[in-house]
Amino acid sequence: MSIQETQRWGSVIRLCHWLTLILVVAAWWIMEIRHDFPKGSDERNLWMMWHMTAGLSIWVLTIFRLGWRAFQPVPHVEMPIWQRWAARIVQALLYVVLLAMPIFGIAARQFAEYSVSYAGVIDMPQLMQKNADLAEWFADMHEDVLWPALLVLVGVHAAAALWHQFAMRDNLIGRMFWSKR
Ligand code: HEM
Repeated sequence: MSIQETQRWGSVIRLCHWLTLILVVAAWWIMEIRHDFPKGSDERNLWMMWHMTAGLSIWVLTIFRLGWRAFQPVPHVEMPIWQRWAARIVQALLYVVLLAMPIFGIAARQFAEYSVSYAGVIDMPQLMQKNADLAEWFADMHEDVLWPALLVLVGVHAAAALWHQFAMRDNLIGRMFWSKR
């Protein structure tokens, strides 16, 4: 069954969807590279700046996306009510984690009195009093709670989309892509 234009997400939403995935992979990969450099080295700090830049871009993109989405018709596709609710809950949790991860990352840097910079161009003023315990708590939440939660949510989200695409054959992924079929 082909997907009509009315059943497809608009091109702006589609762009935001795939750009978010690319930026999340970039934020993770940058931290993997960063591990190769010794603590305190310029290279390590530079990769941390690019990690923050990727992360802050995700935050801004997600806010824009939610704003844009609020004025877009939600394409309709036939599916059982439980699937519709499961999809909505997973998507809502994805937005919550995509907005929370950067905020927890910023808080970890602020309470450690480390810089928060966007591409080395925009620097956030130091707003918080130094607090090593809070800095560690926010960094641990960022790395050990929100990151695994994001991986699980993306896994469930992708598995559901693939199941629709190849088991239910309703070309659901086409709704979020540029397929002509
Ligand atoms: C959705 C966006 C983000 C994602 C997916 C993300 C992902 C990650 C991951 C996977 C790690 C663990 C790396 C490791 O294995 O050590 C990490 C660590 C960290 N991230 Fe993010 N991050 C994001 C946004 C941010 C932002 C915006 C900031 C700060 C402005 C930030 C600051 C940090 C800090 C301080 C650490 C701990 C580094 C350390 O332990 O030395 N992150 N992040």
